[in-house]
This record gives sequence, C-alpha cells and structure tokens, in this order.
Amino acid sequence: MTTIFVTGGAGFIGSNFCRYIYKNRPNLNIIILDALTYAGNIENIKDIILDKERVQFWQGDVNDVELVHDLTSISDFVVHFAAETHVARSLYANRVFFHTDIMGTQSICSAVQKFKNRVRRFIHISTSEVYGTSLTEPMDEEHPLNPTSPYAGAKAGADRTVCSYCKAYNIPAVTVRPFNQYGPNQHLEKVVPRFITNLINDEPLSIHGDGSARRDWVWVGDTVKGIIALLDAPEERVIGETFNLGTGISTSVLDLADIIGGMMGKSGKLDYMTERLGQVQNHISSTEKLYLATGFKAETPLVEGLKKTIEWYEAHREWWKNQTWLKKVPVRTENNKTLYW
Ligand SMILES: NC(=O)c1ccc[n+]([C@@H]2O[C@H](COP(=O)([O-])OP(=O)(O)OC[C@H]3O[C@@H](n4cnc5c(N)ncnc54)[C@H](O)[C@@H]3O)[C@@H](O)[C@H]2O)c1
Repeated sequence: MTTIFVTGGAGFIGSNFCRYIYKNRPNLNIIILDALTYAGNIENIKDIILDKERVQFWQGDVNDVELVHDLTSISDFVVHFAAETHVARSLYANRVFFHTDIMGTQSICSAVQKFKNRVRRFIHISTSEVYGTSLTEPMDEEHPLNPTSPYAGAKAGADRTVCSYCKAYNIPAVTVRPFNQYGPNQHLEKVVPRFITNLINDEPLSIHGDGSARRDWVWVGDTVKGIIALLDAPEERVIGETFNLGTGISTSVLDLADIIGGMMGKSGKLDYMTERLGQVQNHISSTEKLYLATGFKAETPLVEGLKKTIEWYEAHREWWKNQTWLKKVPVRTENNKTLYW
C-alpha cells in the first residue's frame, strides 16, 4: 500500500483533506501527526481513525525530529498543514508561531531530504498571507512577500525554508499558497464561522476598521481538490514550484457579513472595532499557474459554499458550543491597553 503522511490532520483544512482521501483514495494508507493544540480536534477525524487498518493517528509535535523522521521514512507522500494559524493570536503571544511554523517546517524538510528515496512528493501548505496587501491585482506567485503580521512572517519563513531545501537538496517539494478558507470544522476564531455562530446566537458581528478589507474566499472542498491535483500532476510540472490556490474573486468583510446575514434571514448588528494591526487591505489570487499545471480551478461560488457552511454550523452546535469563548483573543496595544480581537 502507498502511504500519505499528513501533519495537522486534526485541524480544519487537514481534517477535510484526510476525510476526502480516506473516502476517495482507498489505495492510500494515512498517517496523521497532530499535537492537538487548542485548534486541533480529534472529533474532526474520529470517523476515520477507527479504521486502524488504514489510518494511524499519532498525537505529537512536528518539532519531534525523531518521530517526524520515523513517520516520513515509511511514507510515499507528505502533506504538511500543521501550524499556528490565527493572525490575531499571533499579535500578542507569538513565539510559538515561529517555533511551530518555521522550525516545524524545517523538521519536515530535513526528514524529506533524508528519505528522498522513499518520498515521492512533499506538499507544503503555505498561505497567501505571506504576500501582504496586493500590489497588483490579481496577485500571482511572483508577487513580493511582504508579511504584515507575526503569523504571516512565520509562514513566510517556512515558505522560504522549503524553497531553500529545494534549491540545496532537490527535495521533491511543492508549495501551495491557499487564500482565505471557509467550510465545516473551522475554528470559531476565524471570521466566517464567527459570523455564522454569532448570528445563530443573535450576537453582534464584530468588524475591524470599516470592514473594507477584501479577501479571496475559497471553499475548503475546492482547496482539498486543488492539493490532490498537485499530488497527481506530472512531477516535471510541479516539483520545486509554488502555486496560489484561490478563486480570482475578492469580497470585503462587510459584504461577507451582509451576504451571510441575508442567507440566514438575520440582519446582525455590526460592532465596529479599531483596525487590526498589520491589516491586509486587499487579497485576490491569480489562478492561472495552478490551472495551467494541473487543470484545476476552484469551482464553488461563494454563496454555494456559504450555504453548505451555514448548514454545517447549524447542525453541529455540540461541536462548536465550547469554543465560543475563544472567538476573541486579548491583544496588548502600544499604550498597554488590552483589546479583545
Ligand atoms: N485557514 C485558512 O484560511 C488558511 C489559508 C491559507 C493557508 N492556511 C494554512 O493551512 C494550514 C492549515 O490551516 P487550518 O486553518 O486548518 O489550521 P488549524 O489551526 O485549524 O489547524 C492546525 C492544526 O495543526 C496542529 N498543530 C499545531 N501545532 C502543531 C505542532 N507543533 N505539531 C503538530 N501539530 C500541530 C493543530 O493541533 C491543528 O490540528 C496551515 O499551515 C495554515 O497556515 C490556512
């Protein structure tokens, strides 16, 4: 059997990816490594980890070099999702972001280098946040890296670490930069599930600044298929390359609030807060490079993806009800004030 090693598989995108692989790729065994931080949730994958024949779950840290080397040595494919991922959280307690996102990625890179004879492809999940605010529209993969938050800085470090291992050691890596994700199993700290669950609970929707910041919102099911297209593509088209994964359409946070409210039949009071430190004002993906290399295009329109997402949060209140206190995190400002973002 062929084996795929997935880090961060109990998180939002990682769990959607593992469940899809489990259902649609019966010839693949899956090894999941996840530290189960506050963001990881074993519930996200409990249906698949019961199948001990095909799925191994390891609770552990990507910085445990020995464990990572061991698991990589028996894997044909590696997909690296594990990271600290919340921008607001990175503004106040951020050392762990650099430790996990950069050093954790180095640990995966060194294992892939060591077991290059076995590992056929290593997909590193970077992020569009590494670009900062768009200087060109749409943003292609040549856009300069201008990270504007510690999260984005740490992910840019990880992104460049993978690139350096490609150049120095020819590891079979592909870097993906997904734009803003939404869908089932996303932690309530992120904006789409926060808006949906606030509306379910008749609570106001908090908006940073005037809400004009625009993002390219991608349905997680499309992201999963995009990553699989990169696993399947002929190696000469993708190895050593970096690909955006977005829709080519951007929507402001204020419009997003309006669309979700309209779909749920609730107007939702808006609660305006100070602008987020290091806010990214506009993000919109070029989709061309990924399409030319793999034929993949994100196909789910925003309203269709939001409909499925709203239905999921309405039907899974048990899953999210204990997370509501984590919707906002404390941030210390320059003049020593504590704000909740
Ligand atoms: N959510 C988005 O909008 C988005 C957009 C672009 C890129 N990304 C990237 O995609 C990846 C997955 O994002 P997500 O939204 O699913 O994140 P998430 O926060 O939901 O999940 C992260 C997972 O990593 C695990 N983890 C954290 N530290 C770990 C460690 N030291 N060792 C092992 N596991 C650890 C957590 O337990 C969790 O299960 C990340 O690399 C993120 O930067 C996310």
